[in-house]
Amino acid sequence: MAEKTIVIQYEEFSSREEMSPKDQALVEAALQAQKGSYSPYSHFQVGAALLLNNGVVVKGANQENIAYPSGLCAERTAMFWAGANYPDVPFDTLAVAGSDNGALCDSPASPCGACRQVMAEYEKKHGQPLKIILVGDRLIRKFPCVEALLPFIFDSLDM
Ligand code: THU
Repeated sequence: MAEKTIVIQYEEFSSREEMSPKDQALVEAALQAQKGSYSPYSHFQVGAALLLNNGVVVKGANQENIAYPSGLCAERTAMFWAGANYPDVPFDTLAVAGSDNGALCDSPASPCGACRQVMAEYEKKHGQPLKIILVGDRLIRKFPCVEALLPFIFDSLDM
């Protein structure tokens, strides 16, 4: 038996001004994207902004449904739209912002497991690290790739 440890490296910012102008613009887009949230059941508004390699920013927001499992997270609405409309353009960075009843969470909302799995698939498809920015009111975290959020990713089937 061997005991192992995983180290996750990421950047933490206490204000948007500490970030590069490119990242600040994407954070702003994620905050704007929250306006598209349809969340009458949870009252939790999530916005996602996905920067593609061609410079296009695709926005997504969570869409809920009275049949709860029929809804979809913000991250996946953005990624699936990008995958459908720009199938050959790699994903550069995904920014995500979550608000509870209209108030941006102090500590950033973190993507669910299903969204992480979808991020991992597109990252592998495009062969380029997908950077992820999680936006909170007092704290912003930036991860260099999906593996930092989802170690031991399921990707073992040959595509
Ligand atoms: N939600 C997202 O949009 N992204 C996540 O990664 C986690 C949760 C949404 C789903 C639902 O509409 C609401 O937040 C509350 O769970």
